Amino acid sequence: MGAREALRDPENFIRGNTVLTAPPLVPELRLHVAAEMLPIWQMTEEEMQQAGLPPPFWAFAWAGGQALARYILDHPEHVAGKNVLDFGAGSGIVGIAAAQAGAARVCAAEIDPVALVAIALNAQANNVELTCLEGDLTGEPGGAWEVVLAGDVCYEGPASRRIMGWLTDLNRSGALVLVGDPGRTYFPKTGMEKLISYAVKTTTELEDTDLRNTSVWRLMS
Ligand SMILES: C[S@@+](CC[C@H](N)C(=O)[O-])C[C@H]1O[C@@H](n2cnc3c(N)ncnc32)[C@H](O)[C@@H]1O
Repeated sequence: MGAREALRDPENFIRGNTVLTAPPLVPELRLHVAAEMLPIWQMTEEEMQQAGLPPPFWAFAWAGGQALARYILDHPEHVAGKNVLDFGAGSGIVGIAAAQAGAARVCAAEIDPVALVAIALNAQANNVELTCLEGDLTGEPGGAWEVVLAGDVCYEGPASRRIMGWLTDLNRSGALVLVGDPGRTYFPKTGMEKLISYAVKTTTELEDTDLRNTSVWRLMS
């Protein structure tokens, strides 16, 4: 069993350290979110008795995910009746929006097992059904996803290149791929069409400013 599976009662941990709140750009939806990054990160490390863990991304609605969720709710035709993947789902914000917009099936993929518990709790809080998939799908064949959504996944150099390369392959195989990004350093803007931009209210807990200009991009094959 890996160290990241050592959180004794993840559901209780999530409920105890978050508040069910609507993300500013997506008031239709409610998520278990934390007010501050450091305390919940430290508590995760203490509970797991391990230092140097990645941040609990699942405890926040990131700017890229908020923008993509907003776009999907306002343009349900992209996902209605479709088989949808929310890649790097975090809290599940984008997948939940896709389910609300009428997707036939939504699968949320995450490498963080605690995130998968948060996604299930958040899906329940919004009365939608998502399937959860644990692990890194990059490099795997696309499967049956007609639409692939990725909110704010370009925050590390090598990982961003691998993820964007894989998303490009899925796009070439016929999937519609939409990405939400608030101008992260590693986000490549070539081979994409910008669909819309939003000023997303966020927090200086997570970002260097409390308002981030965030765009939704469509990969072009
Ligand atoms: C910044 S968060 C964004 C979460 C959510 N999409 C949002 O916008 O609020 C990025 C998420 O991607 C996940 N992630 C990173 N690499 C991944 C991979 N290869 N496969 C699945 N999830 C991954 C992380 O665990 C993290 O939860």
